Amino acid sequence: MINEELILPIPKSTEFPKINGKFFSQDILSLDQFDPISIDLLFNITVHMGEIARNAKVSNYLAGNIATLLFYEPSTRTRGSFDAATKQLGGQTIVVENPQQFSSVAKGETFGDTIKTFEAYCDLIILRHPEVGAAQKAAKAAEFVPIINAGDGIGEHPTQALLDLYTIFEKKHTLSGKKGLIVGDIKNGRTIHSLLRGLSLFKNNTVYLLSPEQLKLQRPLLEDLSQKGLKIFEISQESEIPRDCDFWYWTRVQKERFQDQAEFERLKHSFIATPQLLQKYGNDEMILMHPLPRVGEISEEVDSDPRAVYLRNQIRNGMYIRMALLGLVLGKIPARL
Ligand code: NCD
Repeated sequence: MINEELILPIPKSTEFPKINGKFFSQDILSLDQFDPISIDLLFNITVHMGEIARNAKVSNYLAGNIATLLFYEPSTRTRGSFDAATKQLGGQTIVVENPQQFSSVAKGETFGDTIKTFEAYCDLIILRHPEVGAAQKAAKAAEFVPIINAGDGIGEHPTQALLDLYTIFEKKHTLSGKKGLIVGDIKNGRTIHSLLRGLSLFKNNTVYLLSPEQLKLQRPLLEDLSQKGLKIFEISQESEIPRDCDFWYWTRVQKERFQDQAEFERLKHSFIATPQLLQKYGNDEMILMHPLPRVGEISEEVDSDPRAVYLRNQIRNGMYIRMALLGLVLGKIPARL
C-alpha cells in the first residue's frame, strides 16, 4: 500500500529572500527582491520570449504546468498577458475572476483556505487583491507553490514595473543615469511604487513626481527610496517639468481608492498629456509611458506620436516579461539561454 500522505510536492522556502539570480520557486512579491543582475538575466530571456511570441514558434517550456490566476480586482492586461504568456509556452491556466462572488469566498471561506485549495491544483498562483500585503499573506499560506503579486491594493505591482523597466531599457539601453517624470496618482499608484523601487536599484537615477498635493508619495516610501540613492523632486506644476527627461510615466488617478468621490472628480484630470504639452516640455529622444488603463489623462491625439509607447510597446512587453518570469520561477527556462 502506498501512503498517500507522503506523496506531496516539496515544500517551498518560507522566506522572501532577494532573488540574486535564482528565480526558481521564488515568490515574486516586491521590486525590493530584485537586483541589477537578476533584472539583466530576466531581460535576456525576455528578448528570446518576444521572438517566440512574434514568430508564433511552438514552445513547450511550460508543458505540464498549470498557473492559477486568482483576481479579486478587475484587470485587462495583467490577467490577459499572464494567461497568454502561460499558453504561449505550452502551459495551462485556471482563471478565477471575482472569487468574492463566484467561489466559496462568498460563503465565508478564509483567504488561507482558498490559497491552499488552488495550490493543490496548480504549480503557481498569480494573485491580484485589494489589500496591501495580500500577496505576502498568500505566500505564507501556500506551502508548495510560488505566488506572483499581480497588484496588492495600493502596495506594489512588480510585474508591471519589470515590463516598464524593460520598455525603458529597450529604448535607452541602460537603466542607470536616467531622468524620468512620473505624473498622476503617486500616492495610490502601485505601479509607480514598484517602478520607483526598481529605479532605486540602479545608479544615478532622478525622478520628478508631478501630482496634486493630495496625491503625493507617502513619506516613509519617499524616505526609503531617497536613502537608496534615488533622487526625487516633487513638483506641482507643468512649468517645472525639466526638458531633458528620458521618459514620462503618466498614470490614472485611482478612483477606487477614494472615499470621497467628489474629491476624485476634482483631481482626476489635474494633468493631461497632450501634443502641446509634449511640444512644450518634451524632447525628441524621450518616451511617453502609461501602465493603462487611461481614462482621459492622455489625449488620444498623442497615440500616433512615435514617442508614445503605451499601446505599441508596453502591452506586448508585458507578455514577454511574464513569459520569462514564469519560465524562470517554474524552473523550466535555464538562467542562461
Ligand atoms: C494598473 C494597476 O492595476 O495597478 N493596471 C495594470 O495592471 N496595468 C494601473 C491602474 O489600474 O491604473
